[in-house]
Amino acid sequence: MNPLDAYWMPFTMNRAFKQAPRMITRARGHYYTTDDGRELLDGFSGLWTSGLGHCHPKIVAAVQAQVAELDYGMAFQVGHPKAFELATRLADMAPEGFTRCFFTNSGSEAADTALKIALAYHRARGEGQRTRLIGRERGYHGVNFGGMSVGGIPGNRKVFSAALLPGVDHIRHTHSLADMAFTRGQPSWGVHLADDLERLCALHDASNIAALIVEPVAGSTGILVPPIGYLQRLREICDRHGILLIFDEVITAFGRVGAPFAAERFGVTPDIITTAKGLTNGVVPMGAVLVRENIYQALMQGPAQTIEFLHGYTYSGHPLAAAAALATLDVYAEENTFATARALEAVFEESIHALRDAPHVIDIRNLGLMGGVELAPRDGAPGARGYEVFLKCFEAGVVVRNGGDTLQFSPFLNSTPDELSHIFSTVRQALATTA
Ligand SMILES: Cc1ncc(COP(=O)(O)O)c(C=O)c1O
Repeated sequence: MNPLDAYWMPFTMNRAFKQAPRMITRARGHYYTTDDGRELLDGFSGLWTSGLGHCHPKIVAAVQAQVAELDYGMAFQVGHPKAFELATRLADMAPEGFTRCFFTNSGSEAADTALKIALAYHRARGEGQRTRLIGRERGYHGVNFGGMSVGGIPGNRKVFSAALLPGVDHIRHTHSLADMAFTRGQPSWGVHLADDLERLCALHDASNIAALIVEPVAGSTGILVPPIGYLQRLREICDRHGILLIFDEVITAFGRVGAPFAAERFGVTPDIITTAKGLTNGVVPMGAVLVRENIYQALMQGPAQTIEFLHGYTYSGHPLAAAAALATLDVYAEENTFATARALEAVFEESIHALRDAPHVIDIRNLGLMGGVELAPRDGAPGARGYEVFLKCFEAGVVVRNGGDTLQFSPFLNSTPDELSHIFSTVRQALATTA
């Protein structure tokens, strides 16, 4: 038996991988080291996770100290100080009005938690008929049943079609090559796509709809940047109909769009924000769901000895995750990371759009330090070209990601211009030799 056989890898071509593995054994700063001693520049910051670079000494030290002091503490009916401290820090950092924080272990759990909070909130207010959840085509909210149901990635849904949550619908996605190809930043076309929510309000009757969940910038589907005014219009429609607006900021929070939250960058305040990834710089799994005070208060009902919200995870607010997150937030502040990322945006935009004349490129999209380069698919083999470019870059010493035929970029928030130029010149070379 191949010694790699037992591990069933996530979102991986298992058979191909085990024939030709790509194994990382060490990471420092902006580089990985492979098992055969090669240094790779990480052009994806982990998996959108590690904006500060790998093995940041302050975060490593915080986790090491924490594991020796309190490794785990019962999470239900018992607490530990760092989880409270972290929740307070996050509430302070979040947009005005976000006062409460529920901890999870991943973005998927954060999405499902947010949906459950939305349903519980309406029921507690006497609007228990608001059970419908609305997502968006091409959205990604993780792989659990709730997030998958409101998600709109066809491949992720196909096999589970009959088991998706009932009462879910989707607004249209915001992409149109014909109208917005090669836009830098937010497209000026497409604000009207937000009105699709009105169509669903009319179809289902808005009084039955609990929440709309969207990524402010759709990440996993290949970087879809919201048209100018689009998120504002979604907010207006939600307000008009009493629908909660959930921003899934698992990717966009903590500097990826040059601000603590995309909500702040776009000037649109949702009712619930989900986060994960950059919360701990990827060091320990953790997610956090931030909610507005009125939502929390609506649920604080009944006799004092009742558990108000029957939901939680054994590892909610885990001491190691809390320690990693507190250290991460410290480093973001000390190193002025979000402003650094914002300042780097113009260089990133120039570098990625310079690929416009490279072979196969049919669109380039960017916002903050998120970027996508869409390639024309090969006849009869969608995704093959993107995968080949990913492999070639890996061989050439740069890690990028392909989602089908869209190459995705998530450089470190503290990248140097030279690193950005190295990433994109490597991609250019890979494209030049790809059929
Ligand atoms: C917007 C968004 N939501 C949710 C998730 C799921 O997070 P996780 O893989 O930690 O469950 C992701 C992961 O990429 C994501 O991008």
